[in-house]
Amino acid sequence: MRMRSRALLVLLLCSLLAGAANAEPSPDPTYKDCHPGDKAALLAFKAALGEAYHFASWTPDNPCCDCGAIPASLGTIPNLSGINLSRNRLTGAIPPMFLSKSADQVYLWLSHNNLTGPVPAGFAAVNFAHLDLSRNDLTGDASGLFGRGKELQYIDLSRNDFDFDLSGVVLPEQLYFVDVSHNAIHGSIPAQVASLSNLQFFNVSYNRLCGPVPTGGNMERFDLYNFQHNKCLCGAPLPACKK
Ligand SMILES: *[C@@H]1O[C@H](CO)[C@@H](O)[C@H](O)[C@H]1NC(C)=O
Ligand SMILES: *[C@@H]1O[C@H](CO)[C@@H](O)[C@H](O)[C@H]1NC(C)=O
Ligand SMILES: *[C@@H]1O[C@H](CO)[C@@H](O)[C@H](O)[C@H]1NC(C)=O
Ligand SMILES: *[C@@H]1O[C@H](CO)[C@@H](O)[C@H](O)[C@H]1NC(C)=O
Repeated sequence: MRMRSRALLVLLLCSLLAGAANAEPSPDPTYKDCHPGDKAALLAFKAALGEAYHFASWTPDNPCCDCGAIPASLGTIPNLSGINLSRNRLTGAIPPMFLSKSADQVYLWLSHNNLTGPVPAGFAAVNFAHLDLSRNDLTGDASGLFGRGKELQYIDLSRNDFDFDLSGVVLPEQLYFVDVSHNAIHGSIPAQVASLSNLQFFNVSYNRLCGPVPTGGNMERFDLYNFQHNKCLCGAPLPACKK
């Protein structure tokens, strides 16, 4: 009985995770051994759903499946407020909407995959607290993730191909970590960044930014390695702006 319900659960989760757009359909994905990344994803998935009774026997020694794209069927979970799918060789686009819009604080980790395409427009309405999309091949405008009044504390968009104008972006008050390095972001650094009292890390290097590095507030703590390799950023800690 116990074994049967366990197998059923694994089957359920595997079909959920593999269902949407798996590039390589397997004759029997349920009992195929998966690589450690897939296990991590499934266990993270379990953690995100909570330690409900049905998940109590679902441990790392269980079989699982290969995961290609992020399945759109994650969107059928009524109130998903956190999931870690980092380092899982995921490909394809991020599905339009699979996170709760009503949860107070949403946590999403998708780093070190091969995800492509833009950030879903619906993400602008999600109350992210932590968001890590680093080291993928994501493109387009990610400015909707920022904005006045958001709860965002931690955002890592580094090493993608994001391309948007940073000039008019309002950085949420509670931010303590911002890494947008290695993208194609243009415009200037908003002066408002200097007023963020919690900011511990701010890295905009390797983009196409221009104009003066803001001064005042906490800005002195950021050395030139946070600003280098842009189009024409200037002023301390970089060389002075031309008059
Ligand atoms: C997310 O999962 C990856 C891969 O298992 C792991 O390296 C990372 O520490 C996890 N991140 C968090 C915040 O739990
Ligand atoms: C969704 O979960 C959050 C907690 O993560 C809770 O505050 C919120 O009320 C839930 N929403 C619904 C519709 O149950
Ligand atoms: C993911 O990207 C890395 C580095 O760009 C590449 O070496 C790897 O083959 C890609 N994997 C897939 C599954 O596309
Ligand atoms: C900022 O990012 C660049 C590029 O990834 C890196 O070389 C640099 O060390 C980072 N700066 C800090 C302070 O971590």
